Amino acid sequence: MADIRLGILGYGFMGHEHMNLLKRIPEISIEAICDIVPSQMDDAPEGVRKYTDMDELIADPEVNTVLIVIPNPLHKEAAVKAARAGKHIICEKPAALTVADFDEMVAEAEKAGVRMTVHQQRRHDPDFVPMKAVLKQGLVGKPYLVRSMMYGVNGNMHDWHIYPEMGGGMLYDWGIHLIDQILDMVDEKVVSVYADIKNVINKEVDDYFLLVFRFESGLTAEIELGTYFLTPKRAWIVAGDTGTALLDIDFLNGMKETRRIVRTRHLLENVPGKITMTSAGPTRSFGPPEEGLLYEEPLPDVPTNDLDWFKGYIRAMEEGTPFEVTLPQVRRDLCIMDAFRESARTGKAVPFEA
Ligand SMILES: NC(=O)c1ccc[n+]([C@@H]2O[C@H](COP(=O)([O-])OP(=O)(O)OC[C@H]3O[C@@H](n4cnc5c(N)ncnc54)[C@H](O)[C@@H]3O)[C@@H](O)[C@H]2O)c1
Repeated sequence: MADIRLGILGYGFMGHEHMNLLKRIPEISIEAICDIVPSQMDDAPEGVRKYTDMDELIADPEVNTVLIVIPNPLHKEAAVKAARAGKHIICEKPAALTVADFDEMVAEAEKAGVRMTVHQQRRHDPDFVPMKAVLKQGLVGKPYLVRSMMYGVNGNMHDWHIYPEMGGGMLYDWGIHLIDQILDMVDEKVVSVYADIKNVINKEVDDYFLLVFRFESGLTAEIELGTYFLTPKRAWIVAGDTGTALLDIDFLNGMKETRRIVRTRHLLENVPGKITMTSAGPTRSFGPPEEGLLYEEPLPDVPTNDLDWFKGYIRAMEEGTPFEVTLPQVRRDLCIMDAFRESARTGKAVPFEA
């Protein structure tokens, strides 16, 4: 059995989330927690040691793994200290604010012979897993477009997320997850990227972005996120030459969900254009389909669970196998984020792995 004795560094929103989730995983023991604000730890379970200084948590001899859950700019300092103390590292996303910082963290972990991974657990999200399966199982034929949409109405960001120097903004916060999902589902080189990144109502940090990935095969992936969309929803489209898969969770209408693939048994390239009258005039391309041409299927039912990421972590520690989220993958996520920023700055597409 893996010997995983955690110290949770940072006991704010996500520190508490980790505590609640890990209570359901008996293979991991939580030895200690740490927060510079002592009152944050008032509700900690009994028996867990409490510290207010990260050095003390890291030095605790019973802690062999540090789970870093403090604000983004502090990840590097904590990871370097943990590595130098010989502790394994699980770091919250975004692992670092720059690729150079991340490289330093990796170098320290390698030098110390400790294992490190990053908690990019949204690879197990129930909206993502079926869409990845659609693509991997070829359920829409040859894919030409993947679109991931995340729209919210709560506009203003909160706490340290509103400060650029704290690694605030939505690209660091949600962008890293959404980018990681696209790179996890599409196993191809990214030839170029384009981005539009805006501050809609936040003065200093981004709260809207459109990210476009152009892959080697010609497949395009797009991510659009806005914290100030008055039509809030989470949605996905995967479109190919024999089908279109749709997942849509409508936050306005009681989280109403649509999950389906609309398919055809043959390529539609030879379907003759039929003139249809619409309110906008006649069209040969956009009328309703002929009866029987298309049929619907449910999305693949792939079981997924909020414990999956940590279960995978335990397996990798027990078997000495690579983590699900590898360090080169995290580095690629951070590099592509830089390319998106460059594109947004210049207004031009930026070559990536061409
Ligand atoms: N993977 C996910 O889905 C997910 C979700 C939310 C947050 N996160 C990540 O978790 C990290 C924390 O985010 P959060 O939302 O919990 O923030 P938060 O502000 O709610 O909590 C951070 C906590 O760290 C404490 N802290 C600050 N500096 C410290 C220090 N030097 N030593 C000890 N404690 C310190 C703060 O007092 C606070 O309680 C961020 O990197 C964020 O991106 C990940």
